[in-house]
Amino acid sequence: MKRALVFGGSGQIGTALIARLLAAGWEVHAVSRRPRTGLPRVQWVQGDFASMPVLPRAIDAIYSAGPLDLFSSWYPTAPMDCPQVVAFGSTSVLSKRAATDPGERALAQRLFEAEAQLREAAAAKGCAATLLRPTLVYGLGRDRNLSSIAALARRTGFFVLPAGATGLRQPVHVEDLAQAACAAAEGPAGMQRDYALPGGETLPYREMVARVLAALPSKPRLVELPSPLFRLLLAGARAGGVLRDLPGGAVARMREDLVFDDAPARRELAYAPRPFQPTAAMFEVSG
Ligand SMILES: NC(=O)c1ccc[n+]([C@@H]2O[C@H](COP(=O)([O-])OP(=O)(O)OC[C@H]3O[C@@H](n4cnc5c(N)ncnc54)[C@H](OP(=O)(O)O)[C@@H]3O)[C@@H](O)[C@H]2O)c1
Repeated sequence: MKRALVFGGSGQIGTALIARLLAAGWEVHAVSRRPRTGLPRVQWVQGDFASMPVLPRAIDAIYSAGPLDLFSSWYPTAPMDCPQVVAFGSTSVLSKRAATDPGERALAQRLFEAEAQLREAAAAKGCAATLLRPTLVYGLGRDRNLSSIAALARRTGFFVLPAGATGLRQPVHVEDLAQAACAAAEGPAGMQRDYALPGGETLPYREMVARVLAALPSKPRLVELPSPLFRLLLAGARAGGVLRDLPGGAVARMREDLVFDDAPARRELAYAPRPFQPTAAMFEVSG
């Protein structure tokens, strides 16, 4: 039986990944900062990158579905020989490189450095490294994008967008990411690869939001406001303590296309992401 070591296994992508590994017959060792129990063939160990618990020496694949920078700093010191490492990063490494918001630029730089560190360490160990960069993730109700939109719309009965929010998006379901991550661990020894993992449909931001709202039983309304009015409303909401963690560039980006090519992943990982057909359950916490 093949054995995987998973970081971030309690997160939204990690939950889908572990389910997929188990279905494929793998034994899973998973590291969490909290004590956890659960499924047969999953052995949870408590720890974090600053104080790593004792880990098994014989591992067929290491997966990172948590913070990439922390994983990449730890990985060079990993005590086991392992032929494959598969790590989730983000398309933000590309899309936020020239962002106006300094925090977003810093995130892109952190991801860039983490990717480089991981590739270098994997090459030194003679290990195959695959970096997977998802776009906007949904599926288990635990994302901070579409599920937050759904939660706000459920509470208020409507959701407000600025007019012209037509930038293209490719929301991706966690189970499609899990499929790609499992396929990546079958890659050739010593290879260094990275893949964008967008969803199976490219659609304008406003249409993506409209589909989320249409999936909810209460059918909240989509309200589109002229930009100056929207900015005023947003400033008022922020002053009232709502949407304070919305990054500075988020609204402007609703007009920008964030589109990535999935052809390499389709070709080499048999990646076949589903079109965006959300159901209400996908925005309720599960898994
Ligand atoms: N969500 C998105 O839309 C999106 C898009 C593109 C890329 N990604 C990337 O994909 C990866 C997984 O995303 P996700 O949304 O599934 O993550 P998530 O739900 O936020 O969960 C990540 C897991 O990582 C662990 N973790 C978090 N902070 C940690 C820390 N300081 N030290 C050690 N472990 C920590 C946590 O596990 P424990 O609490 O059990 O320790 C957590 O459950 C991340 O690299 C993320 O940047 C996400």
